[in-house]
Amino acid sequence: MFAIVTNLCLITLLSFRCSADNVDPQFYPTYHLAPPHGWMNDPNGFIYFREEYHLFFQYNPHSSQEPGTAHWGHAKSNDLFNWEHLPIAMYPDKDYDKDGVFSGSAIEEDNKMYLFYTGNVNHEGETPDHNNRQALAYSSDGVNVTKYPDNLIIYGEDFQPDFRDPKVWKHRDQYYMVLGNSFDNSTRGRVLLFKSENLIDWRNVSVLEQSDGDLGYMWECPDFFELNKKWILLFSPQGIEPQGYKYRNLYQVGYFVGDFDYETNMFTVTSEFRELDHGHDFYATQSLSDKFGRRVMVAWDDMWEQVYPELDDGWTGQMTIPRELYLSSDQRLIQRPVREIRNVRASTLYSDRATAGTTVKLSDNAAEIKVTASSFHDFELTLDGGNNTFVNISYDYLRGRVTLERNGDDGIRRTRWRPSGTKLRMQIFVDRSSVELFCGEGEVTFSSRFFPCSEVTMKLGENSCADDLSVYSMRRTMPKP
Ligand code: FRU
Repeated sequence: MFAIVTNLCLITLLSFRCSADNVDPQFYPTYHLAPPHGWMNDPNGFIYFREEYHLFFQYNPHSSQEPGTAHWGHAKSNDLFNWEHLPIAMYPDKDYDKDGVFSGSAIEEDNKMYLFYTGNVNHEGETPDHNNRQALAYSSDGVNVTKYPDNLIIYGEDFQPDFRDPKVWKHRDQYYMVLGNSFDNSTRGRVLLFKSENLIDWRNVSVLEQSDGDLGYMWECPDFFELNKKWILLFSPQGIEPQGYKYRNLYQVGYFVGDFDYETNMFTVTSEFRELDHGHDFYATQSLSDKFGRRVMVAWDDMWEQVYPELDDGWTGQMTIPRELYLSSDQRLIQRPVREIRNVRASTLYSDRATAGTTVKLSDNAAEIKVTASSFHDFELTLDGGNNTFVNISYDYLRGRVTLERNGDDGIRRTRWRPSGTKLRMQIFVDRSSVELFCGEGEVTFSSRFFPCSEVTMKLGENSCADDLSVYSMRRTMPKP
């Protein structure tokens, strides 16, 4: 009895330590999905189910300091911005997922939600020191999730130890799954394709694409979908070396465009590998297709091994703004914030032409900033957070490149970009500790976290003016932490 009481006290203490009560809201987003408390990483099981968007995520409810042993956290929304937190969907409570209910995806079938995920088991002191198996769970109501009693669907003995992150879709009456894998003694990454008639029995039918040695040792979180009659293989490779201003983050997200043949299960790549976002914090993307037929993608707006102040604030990690994907005629992915973002705009803080040095104080450090300027001049805009905290966004007309610099080490991210036509257009979303920049029609994006010291002021550069500058404050769509 004493043991039970002590344990209860311990549990109460532990859950108090990381309950929502002691989240410091100073950097907590107002319209981006973040965990109620604790740690968040990859988006999982992103699905439009019974007229609502569900987004699960890698979650440690016990601490914001570390990923811990992954659970699946859960939130739902009508419009991708007003999120409601739901109970934890899956706990690491089986012998085959005891060291992490790792990433995965969801599909709807017979009015049920089916969730595919990776069960991680560690083997301390052994080689390999972990293994990954694929498992299945379901939910009839979209809230309560049941793991099937015998829910291990793919053992994958030939693909151990890094074999994870199932993304599933249906075509005709067959189910398809892509999985991330490392091969050649864990030196090269690849994406495997599996197929099933019944969601339970799966067989490996092809390798969709693999690293030739230069594209990393492990490919995580693969996603594979059709856009504009082409197929996109989107994934998160680990181990690509930086090349100039490319691939500067610890891990990357990038894609190939190509053609896929359901007869042969082969993917023929027709583009080079391209990095998807150029900011500091963007990883582990996942997409869905909803009733409007659009392809909506989110990413973890953070990066492994970043040490940000929110770690000490009782919460860590947020998602990017959900983005609709398009494919341009030159086979590039275009990302635009989903149209529902317009309803998040609150009041207009500024809307006019703007001369050099124009300043606008943001409200609650959350804003949408839209700029139209000449594409034949340099352009610069700073988000000044006081005390040397800042994000500086600039367009270099002569070199045709755009730069996002934030304060601190390794602050510069940069890529080539030239607006098409005479107008330079930028859309910038600030949300307390994040900034997302969309250039032009969304052909270039930067997603970075930044931690302002005080109220943020937007300022145009000393030599920059805008034909049109609009600054909006934003509504709170996330529950207060
Ligand atoms: C990507 C990742 C996945 C894995 C999960 C564990 O960030 O490493 O491959 O399933 O995180 O939390």
